[in-house]
Amino acid sequence: MDELNRRQYLKAMGVSVWQRRDLVPEQAEETVTEAVVNEVSQQSSIEPPAQSSTPSRSHAVDQMDWPALRDCVRDCRACELRAGCTQTVFGVGNTQADLLVIGEAPGADEDRQGEPFVGRAGQLLNTMLLAMGYQRESVFIANIVKCRPPNNRDPKAEETLSCEPYLARQIELIQPGLILAVGRIAAQNLLKTDITVGKLRGRVHRFGAQNIPLVVTYHPAYLLRSPEQKAKSWQDLQLALSSLRGATA
Ligand code: URA
Repeated sequence: MDELNRRQYLKAMGVSVWQRRDLVPEQAEETVTEAVVNEVSQQSSIEPPAQSSTPSRSHAVDQMDWPALRDCVRDCRACELRAGCTQTVFGVGNTQADLLVIGEAPGADEDRQGEPFVGRAGQLLNTMLLAMGYQRESVFIANIVKCRPPNNRDPKAEETLSCEPYLARQIELIQPGLILAVGRIAAQNLLKTDITVGKLRGRVHRFGAQNIPLVVTYHPAYLLRSPEQKAKSWQDLQLALSSLRGATA
């Protein structure tokens, strides 16, 4: 993507881009990436997550292909969330994506439409992806839990645990080059930690046995409420890009 386009998407995202006036354009671009390269080298010391605590179901899900997995999620009654929502929200996008975005749980719009991130937060997520150079359709977007929690409350531990085999299988099937965890619930569940997003962001973690690079950033819904954090989120997205580029170089 050319710099002009990126700047337009960043503007739409609400990030002001500054440039040193004393530098020629090529040097100026380097200043954008400099901070990122420094951050990539700091690897997370967090241990890969343990396996789900529901071994038999998890084992069956482990073997599923996409259609079987989709049907299994659609018919799931493993926790009480399904009774209170309209439909399950499986996830959407390119099943061979480089980039896998993982959020928390469907909200009201997603519950109605059966697709993750279609409300206001989803629109901002789309703009964030465009600023990275990705169309929404070219990445895969999923959530920690597939059913909407009542009144948008946080998913309970037993609910995230019930849903874990589905996301684990999605990750195995996609084999993304990078996972972008948006928000506290995604970050803490994927990394099995209670460390805050503010402390988890800004470095590349590793997920699971395959050591998939994982970058944490703020949830777009939080960014809508706290736009002053958008610049930090843009740093995270650049970190993700630079990790992805490193992986494909
Ligand atoms: N927030 C999320 O975390 N996921 C969605 O799908 C929608 C809003």
